[in-house]
Amino acid sequence: MFGPDTTAVHAGRAGLTALGVHAVPLDLSTTAPLPNVHDGGAAYERLATGGTPEEGQSTVYQRLWNPTVARFEEGLAQLERAEQAVSFATGMAALSAVLLAAVAAGKGHVVAVRPLYGGSDHLLATALLGTTVTFVQPAEVRAALRPDTGLVIAETPANPDLRLLDIAALVREADGVLVLIDNTFATPVLQRPVEHGATLVLHSATKFIGGHGDAMGGVVATDAAWAARLRQVRAVTGGLLTPWPAYLLHRGLATMPVRVRAQQESANKIAGTLAGHELVERVLYPGLPECDPLGLVGSQMAGPGSLLSFELASAEHAERVPGAVSLITHAVSLGGIDTLIQHPAGLTHRPVAAEAKPHAAMLRVSIGLEDPADILADLVAAIEASR
Ligand SMILES: Cc1ncc(COP(=O)(O)O)c(C=O)c1O
Repeated sequence: MFGPDTTAVHAGRAGLTALGVHAVPLDLSTTAPLPNVHDGGAAYERLATGGTPEEGQSTVYQRLWNPTVARFEEGLAQLERAEQAVSFATGMAALSAVLLAAVAAGKGHVVAVRPLYGGSDHLLATALLGTTVTFVQPAEVRAALRPDTGLVIAETPANPDLRLLDIAALVREADGVLVLIDNTFATPVLQRPVEHGATLVLHSATKFIGGHGDAMGGVVATDAAWAARLRQVRAVTGGLLTPWPAYLLHRGLATMPVRVRAQQESANKIAGTLAGHELVERVLYPGLPECDPLGLVGSQMAGPGSLLSFELASAEHAERVPGAVSLITHAVSLGGIDTLIQHPAGLTHRPVAAEAKPHAAMLRVSIGLEDPADILADLVAAIEASR
């Protein structure tokens, strides 16, 4: 097995030499030629029920299978050290597919560890897909399990306060119920939840995987049986990742380790300096010892990542800061090449119930690839100018 940086560059590129090409082919076909009704029907049957195409078999229709998408999935599965991966139009479509599969199996109760991304919290709280949810803290997981619990869901680091959670301990507390870890913030460069016992690893591929803020996608890395279930949900409900974003997301994998490490190095410096600023009440960043009481950075995680949040003395001050930055962009999303700032309570976590809303004076920053001194200068100037 190659090291992860080599895997990031080469995974999903098998057979290119035989095709006589160097870059991954982008196949935009919405449909595929059928040899005859009988064989075409057999291929349809196989793909629509979650199978993968047999050698030489027609791939029938893009909603069932696409080779460019499959190459991205192969790359991501290898990076997560999972058997397979199944991709979707967005991270929310990926989560929806997992929830639909759980409901279809008669296991529609979800134990969800808060905090979660506001959209995930919202999807669970509204029960739109027929799930029921018990929101908990990690110590409450076991007590919340029911005979119909199909999933335990958690994020680490969590959006938006960067709280860390011990995945292996969560898997023990889940007592045989499948654990889904949203690994969007860590990426497989820093953390591979499958190695700690998680069965499903979810990404908003829109973030670090694409890395350039120009492609949306979602992906779940998992075992072969779950992958087949998810492909079936995707084929039937249609929330597929299309080839063009799949191409961009696959290309993003190659540079992801380098980007993640460079952004992390800057975030480390910026978090340390911000923590000493007189107008900053608290910095939330896994690289600060007080934010990692279980010592997970260095064991579960290879590093603290490049997302950080900080709290000011008042919500009014926090709400003014995004309007005062100039280099940094005031925008939701994260994990891209440029630095973004946003106010979670007002934006990404707006739909979250009052009792679980993020701190009203908290801002979240996704550190990009700019010079860290420039990012810091812009951030500090904005904090001071808007006091
Ligand atoms: C941790 C996390 N999970 C899932 C999602 C949803 O992903 P998408 O926006 O691609 O649907 C997001 C989006 O911000 C996120 O931050």
